Amino acid sequence: MSKRDFLSTADLTRSQLDDLLDLAARAKGKPSAQGLAGKTLGMLFFQPSLRTRVSFETAMVQLGGHCINLASHDLYELEPEEQAVMDGRAEEHVVDAARTMSRYVDALGVRAVSRVGTWERDRRELLLRSYAQHSSVPVINLETCFEHPCQAIADAMTMREHLPALSGKKLTLLWCNHPEPKSLGPTHSILRVAAMLGMQVTLAHPLGFEVDSEVLEGARSAAGASGGAVEVVNDLGAAANGAEVLYARSWGCTKHWDDPEREAMVKRSLQDWRVDEDLMSQTDNALLMHPLPVRRNVAATDAVLDGPRSVIYDQAENRVHVQKAILKQLLT
Ligand code: CP
Repeated sequence: MSKRDFLSTADLTRSQLDDLLDLAARAKGKPSAQGLAGKTLGMLFFQPSLRTRVSFETAMVQLGGHCINLASHDLYELEPEEQAVMDGRAEEHVVDAARTMSRYVDALGVRAVSRVGTWERDRRELLLRSYAQHSSVPVINLETCFEHPCQAIADAMTMREHLPALSGKKLTLLWCNHPEPKSLGPTHSILRVAAMLGMQVTLAHPLGFEVDSEVLEGARSAAGASGGAVEVVNDLGAAANGAEVLYARSWGCTKHWDDPEREAMVKRSLQDWRVDEDLMSQTDNALLMHPLPVRRNVAATDAVLDGPRSVIYDQAENRVHVQKAILKQLLT
């Protein structure tokens, strides 16, 4: 039987998404059966993580299994390109690392968010996809610069808890300023998931911060099938108006992907792109969401992050319940 991976929201059907959300909701608030006793999840973190790492570790422990985590300083520099002549810095090919890890663990998670080349190169998620191709065990996307599917399922779970029927609800995905160049993973994933759930999505960003056109088209097509909609606005005031959920996050400029200094220069004039009480007052009493980590008083003010409509820690908590659902589906 071929193995199943969990790599992209684009691989999920609506019924698979609903099943995951139902399984995660059932997992919440009740002791876990030890269904993964004796199982090991290996996680490779090429960049830092708090929530993803700890929520997967907690989920595995609660299900009776355990995790082995490796950070980039534990790993050889890896070559992901097929048939590469390895006379450069990379000491090991992913094909060997993936086949070896598959002899030790029952599933493998990979976080590989770094900007390595142009957007055209990095959108291919070479490291993750290479691990998926060469591992004989299921591979889980722990975030790339293109997708963060585990985060988006936890976000959808959080919205379902606070807004019982998501179909037709107005969600604004709002670009926020940030001193560092950020990945598009969380934005792409929640955009697709919200469209699949029939939400009325407004993608709001300054000109120059367009998301990947294939993801936008995919989201529009998913919205067409679910009765939802996806619109794009480039005006901060229009973004907030009537929103029932305001989801704030920064993401990088794909046009200047391999030129972070240029991106930083562009962002100097975009400091008003942040969430404060004034912006929240223009919404329809919106929930405030952010996947964290957040730059306080840059992306969003303390007052709104700590305010009564903020559900940022519910999102973080729900990562555990969603990880359990994903792990159960892949490993049992
Ligand atoms: N939201 C999220 O993935 O957080 P970490 O980067 O801390 O894992």
